Amino acid sequence: MTPLSESPIWRRQREFYEQKGPAAWIEDDIPWHMSSHAALAHCYARLTAAWIDDLVGASRVERTQTVRVIELGSGAGRFAYAFVQAYEEIRRTLRLPRIIYTLTDFAETNVAAFRAHPAWQALAAEGLADFMVFDAERPALAATGPLVCIANYVFDSLPQDYFRVADGVLSEGHVPALSQADTLRFDYAVVAGERYADPALAAVLKELSATKGPRSFLLPTVALRCLEALRAAAGGELLALVGDKAHVRIEDHDHDRAPIAVLHGAGAFSFNVSFPALARWTEHQGGRAHVPAQRQSAFEICALAADGLSAAPRLADAYAEHVARVSPSDLHGIAAHVPPSFAGQSFDYYLSVMRAAACDPSLVARLVPELMRYKKDARSSQVLQLRRVIAQAARVYLHVRDKDAFLSAAVTVLQAFDASDAIEELAQQVEKTHGARVDVRAIARAALR
Ligand SMILES: C[S@@+](CC[C@H](N)C(=O)[O-])C[C@H]1O[C@@H](n2cnc3c(N)ncnc32)[C@H](O)[C@@H]1O
Repeated sequence: MTPLSESPIWRRQREFYEQKGPAAWIEDDIPWHMSSHAALAHCYARLTAAWIDDLVGASRVERTQTVRVIELGSGAGRFAYAFVQAYEEIRRTLRLPRIIYTLTDFAETNVAAFRAHPAWQALAAEGLADFMVFDAERPALAATGPLVCIANYVFDSLPQDYFRVADGVLSEGHVPALSQADTLRFDYAVVAGERYADPALAAVLKELSATKGPRSFLLPTVALRCLEALRAAAGGELLALVGDKAHVRIEDHDHDRAPIAVLHGAGAFSFNVSFPALARWTEHQGGRAHVPAQRQSAFEICALAADGLSAAPRLADAYAEHVARVSPSDLHGIAAHVPPSFAGQSFDYYLSVMRAAACDPSLVARLVPELMRYKKDARSSQVLQLRRVIAQAARVYLHVRDKDAFLSAAVTVLQAFDASDAIEELAQQVEKTHGARVDVRAIARAALR
């Protein structure tokens, strides 16, 4: 029997990601729509800008300085691309410091794919992006100065330990060495003495287990050790933006059910992440954790400011506005459930939904075909708005797989509205960011056939 974090299930998952490489996203094995959504990128860019603005206000960062953003487990890179575009727009308006965005993964094949992509090569040439193999299980990073860490659907994939409290007694769940992620069976051993030598981990475990029970929780040990290493590299000024399947309040742990892994494709799985554990860790560092007041969706967002600032009003305000009031999950949820061919909807309605959801390219690909039925009676001002929505989607669009629907949907609808000049603009825009990798004019010719 071993603690959950030492079970071979995690090694097998690593092998899956290493062997699949970028194909894990191309073949749709791994969920990515929410965690790559343009509205999410926009939200994180706002949170990042607000925090950097707080640091500028506290004279901890100069406007001329460059702040590093590191994304763990960047997947296919769609989120990263939309984030860099969104932050650049905000930075120019507010005259904020520049960022350099580091895309990482522990799987070298994923990092090699970023390096080889023309859109990333162009941003790297401008000093806006770079690439690195980074393993959250063995975090090693040279000193960075103030650092923003982004982790979407990553902490749910890293090794965790499992504990439960019953009648005031803390026990740890151990699993047989030959376990499979989907059929875990736990045996319990009472925890006697300090389970972790690391003071921050020990403090988090102590706080989470301070109850008579019943309580049942996973402790994200690898994620917390990784955050510690990043905070050290940042010289104590770290903002971590975490999006995941999560328990958000301590009360969410008050039951006696053992955790269940959700399987993705043929080899990956994920567990819920305890935001209370992340929040206690942040507070232990003297920082402030912004977490949702209650669980509201399958993708929760927290902002962990482990930064030693006595006040960070802009970050607090940005979290209240862009996560607590209406979150990217709300926008994704509303937009994802717009019914196709719902005759009662108007052209303007579809435009509003696409704009509200930050003109996410996957959403635009799904909704613009609905507009074809207004071909005969759309006003020219509406067609102009449609062109703007498509142009905005193209600005944050990263072409990752050949059969991607966005460009073909965009050219088909622009052809239907006789906007061949907009197709030419789209071709030039995509050519500028992607080089010869995608040929929009060829897509347009194919759509006409
Ligand atoms: C569920 S995917 C999420 C990918 C991406 N963030 C997204 O939302 O589409 C998990 C990612 O974490 C990466 N990963 C798994 N174990 C890791 C580790 N120990 N260190 C760094 N990345 C890891 C995987 O290679 C994969 O890219």
